[in-house]
Amino acid sequence: MSDFLVKRDDFRRCRVAPSEPPQLEPGQALLRVDSFGLTANNITYAVMGETMSYWDFFPAPAGWGRVPMWGFAEVERSGAEAVAVGTRVFGYLPPSSHLAVTAVKADERGFIDGSPHRAALPSAYHRYLTTAADPFYIESTEEVQMLLRPLFFTSFLIDDQLADEGLTDRGPIVVASASSKTAIAAAFLLSRRQGVELVGLTSPRSAEFVAGLGIYERTVAYDAIESLERGPATFVDFAGDAAVRQAVHSHFGDELVHSMAVGVTHWEDFEGGGELPGPAPVFFFAPDRVSKRSEDWGRAGLEQKVADAWHPFREWTAGWLEPIHDRGFAGLESAYLDVLEGGVDPKAAHVVSLRD
Ligand SMILES: NC(=O)c1ccc[n+]([C@@H]2O[C@H](COP(=O)([O-])OP(=O)(O)OC[C@H]3O[C@@H](n4cnc5c(N)ncnc54)[C@H](OP(=O)(O)O)[C@@H]3O)[C@@H](O)[C@H]2O)c1
Repeated sequence: MSDFLVKRDDFRRCRVAPSEPPQLEPGQALLRVDSFGLTANNITYAVMGETMSYWDFFPAPAGWGRVPMWGFAEVERSGAEAVAVGTRVFGYLPPSSHLAVTAVKADERGFIDGSPHRAALPSAYHRYLTTAADPFYIESTEEVQMLLRPLFFTSFLIDDQLADEGLTDRGPIVVASASSKTAIAAAFLLSRRQGVELVGLTSPRSAEFVAGLGIYERTVAYDAIESLERGPATFVDFAGDAAVRQAVHSHFGDELVHSMAVGVTHWEDFEGGGELPGPAPVFFFAPDRVSKRSEDWGRAGLEQKVADAWHPFREWTAGWLEPIHDRGFAGLESAYLDVLEGGVDPKAAHVVSLRD
């Protein structure tokens, strides 16, 4: 067995380490990690590793961490009832050859990892869905599921919250890191609503790509924020860049209706900045919206709405998304460093296969 480890205090240091095969106890199953997507979202799990406990999902030697990934795995061995060897599942995985899970609440749709070290962590990450019973699953679209499905769920909730809170008709929605996949998915959904004006803020190298997507009314480089018309606006921030945040808040001032902090793609520029004019940024916490909409629509109702919205989006991405295929732990390491350094073309995304 092997693990890909990242130094917690220096993300540029990483290594592949051998690990011991676990002794399975009754109720446990061993998953063989097959493949997963790797985007800036995974880097954010490392950036927020301590503050939001992302390092705690998949323990690692002291000082090191295993960055969580979303992807597919197969049950290689099973001592768990209702979890058959050979079952293919989608879920939250370590960058490792294997994961031992304690399968609870297992049925034909999947199971939850009830491992004690995960009990205090958000439950949204604990479910492993069998592909055979999953409304998202289409075998030929596995790559796009690994890459975009977890991001799309967030984007769905952002679009829903902005509309629910009346923010879609109070001036433009200004999106920072507009070329990120999560921003694109949110903008795709928002662009389908009547009368929503979307402004995409991005780096000069991504501007042509962002404009070409046809979902933002305007594409503006980070150094041209002052060219935006002043007036009421909502800021949705996927960049987490202190200078961009400062520039947007200073430009719109008290007319900024809402400032939503979603991500930190610019992870090295996260800290700093002076006092912010306008409303204080509010961190977007997906589990809160999941709870609210699960109460309103039922959990199955929410999942059905997300699945219904997913398929048109997935079809649309086929027109531009270019997966980059990486194989084995060497491929994983180079993909990780590429994403960490922001070297990925915005129309591309890494899919790592650990299959032999
Ligand atoms: N709160 C939540 O629940 C939640 C859920 C899902 C995702 N998110 C967050 O949304 C963000 C987007 O994730 P994603 O996976 O969709 O991203 P992605 O598609 O991999 O983002 C790529 C874009 O991010 C910017 N970027 C990436 N690396 C950079 C670097 N090292 N330096 C500067 N810019 C860099 C560039 O955009 P520009 O040139 O346009 O800036 C690049 O085109 C992440 O921070 C993620 O954590 C949050």
